[in-house]
Amino acid sequence: MQSENLLDKNIEYIAKKFPNCISEGKIDFDLLRQELSPVLVEGKDERYRLDWVGKRQAILTANSPIAKTLRPLREESLNFDTTENLYLEGDNLDVLKLLHETYLSKIKMIYIDPPYNTGNDFIYNDDFADDADGYLTKSNQKDDHGNRMTANKETSGRYHSDWLSMMYMRLKLAKDLLTDDGAIFISIDDNEIVHLRKICDDIFGSPNFRNTILVRRRIKSLNSQFAASGLQRLNIGFEYVLIYAKSDNFTMRPLRMKKINASRKGRWDVFWSNADRPTMRYDVLGFTPKDGQWRYSKEKADVAVANYEKYQAEYAMKMTLEDYWEGTGCCMQFIRRISDGYGKNGGVQHWIAPSDTALRTSNWTDIEVSQIHKEIDIPFENPKSRELIQELVKLANLKTGDIVLDFFSGSATTAHAVMQLNVEENISIKYILVQLDEKINEKSEAYSAGYKTICEIGKDRIRRAGKKIAEENRMAVPDIDIGFRVLKLDDSNMRDVYYNPKAYNQDTLLDFITSIKEGRTAEDILFQVMLDKGVLPSSKIEKRRTTNGQQTYYIVGATESEVIDLICCLDKKIDTDAIKEIAKHQPGCCVFLDSGMDSDATRTNVKQVFDTYSSKTNLEVL
Ligand SMILES: C[S@@+](CC[C@H](N)C(=O)[O-])C[C@H]1O[C@@H](n2cnc3c(N)ncnc32)[C@H](O)[C@@H]1O
Repeated sequence: MQSENLLDKNIEYIAKKFPNCISEGKIDFDLLRQELSPVLVEGKDERYRLDWVGKRQAILTANSPIAKTLRPLREESLNFDTTENLYLEGDNLDVLKLLHETYLSKIKMIYIDPPYNTGNDFIYNDDFADDADGYLTKSNQKDDHGNRMTANKETSGRYHSDWLSMMYMRLKLAKDLLTDDGAIFISIDDNEIVHLRKICDDIFGSPNFRNTILVRRRIKSLNSQFAASGLQRLNIGFEYVLIYAKSDNFTMRPLRMKKINASRKGRWDVFWSNADRPTMRYDVLGFTPKDGQWRYSKEKADVAVANYEKYQAEYAMKMTLEDYWEGTGCCMQFIRRISDGYGKNGGVQHWIAPSDTALRTSNWTDIEVSQIHKEIDIPFENPKSRELIQELVKLANLKTGDIVLDFFSGSATTAHAVMQLNVEENISIKYILVQLDEKINEKSEAYSAGYKTICEIGKDRIRRAGKKIAEENRMAVPDIDIGFRVLKLDDSNMRDVYYNPKAYNQDTLLDFITSIKEGRTAEDILFQVMLDKGVLPSSKIEKRRTTNGQQTYYIVGATESEVIDLICCLDKKIDTDAIKEIAKHQPGCCVFLDSGMDSDATRTNVKQVFDTYSSKTNLEVL
């Protein structure tokens, strides 16, 4: 009988949006200030948390906007116009920023397999992400191949800090993409698991930690040569997959695994359970429990009693109960009451049939973590096994239309696993893969096989795996989506004058008749507009011409075919008739090029036309 504790409510409110800013139930004001500040803030309070050099900078970088875009690459794609899968080339930090608004709460599952920080890993150097190319080369901050990947050596003073900052930024952005019933699965080994758990607790909230799965690692017998002189450490026999849910609403599909040495014998167990449901207390073989409940409904129990009586009367002399159960189709249930039974179940028992499978636990050592799929001969060091990722996608309980995101995609095992699962379960899950266009070492097997970048390996793997899967399942699943739309990270299509018009005076503005950079195509602009307007870049795009022949792009809403989310008319000769014709479709959003208007009169008319025909349209002239 007292008013609400508003302090607790406020803290709860902040914890929802910024779980990283709550430490032992109290607000970490330094971190919260950083979350809300466009510049680096100072802070030195002591508290229980994982801290490292650059944590606040990581928050700042994750929150800062970028002037970049994703440009479509038709020739690199497969079934560009019909597929709903995406292959995104570029640094995943930038890509996650570009996807942030469009995919907010839309991704059901994220799987990632980041560099493990083994002491030899290369990690992308975010500190230099905004610097000019020349500076990077001069200061030797690019590797021999021109990549911004720098070796993160164990001897470096910021060995853990750099890795943690790299992961923290990406995980922070990735969390927002998950649906409320979604989850993230992260492969990791002993090097960083302790730290990764801490930053995931920070970002996802510790109550959302679900499990650490153990997966078997092929043992390299490094230790054999030292065995005689005593071992410093054991060979590593497994690694981990961490699972964090977005919220309580994430539930996993119960998976079963083959039992080793499974018994062929069934067993009897009590038919009573202590959950208190009075409606489930009824007479079975002369006994009604006083509390608790029977395990199945009365109708089912009566059948199970009759089944066992029949077995006893007609078959018990000839065969075991197991043989009878198998001979009758492996689904019969049996109930009996033993004469000397006592206790709450009064001796009533039900039969548990033999099973060669058991519910999966977090011990997945029956699966080997890294295994190149034999039929797809792709030279990539230590890819994850397709079986592992497929099993994880099953566990995450995805249905048709759900999306899996992998933003450290390497040789594209996730795409392979999704396509395979789609045919096995006759569903249609979509994927988004992100991969840095990292150059391949010239001394590697992959380079000798003709691949120049990891993206080339990934795309080739998807093509080959998809072709094989489609051929093998042509009859059963004729319409499987084996395509992928490739988009590549690049600088914005818009010139600086578009972002900072005030910095240019009238005279210079005249030089920028168009605010679009040279060499950018209508499709380049279309995709930037789609991302900007929250339209999925995997959407189907219809090209239509107006009566006067102007090229337009229609993105039709997925739910009702005549709801148009976006019309882009990026033609160079837009007249008032074309604008009227387009406005009559009443799209959610409509974009024209200012430089495409055929006269100043058209320029002035455009708003008026939309006010008349489609006043709710979000109209933009670039
Ligand atoms: C351990 S591998 C993933 C292997 C993958 N699971 C497979 O089965 O092939 C990590 C991948 O992440 C990529 N990567 C590292 N930093 C990245 C970044 N900043 N953006 C995008 N990809 C990155 C690396 O190029 C590498 O291919």
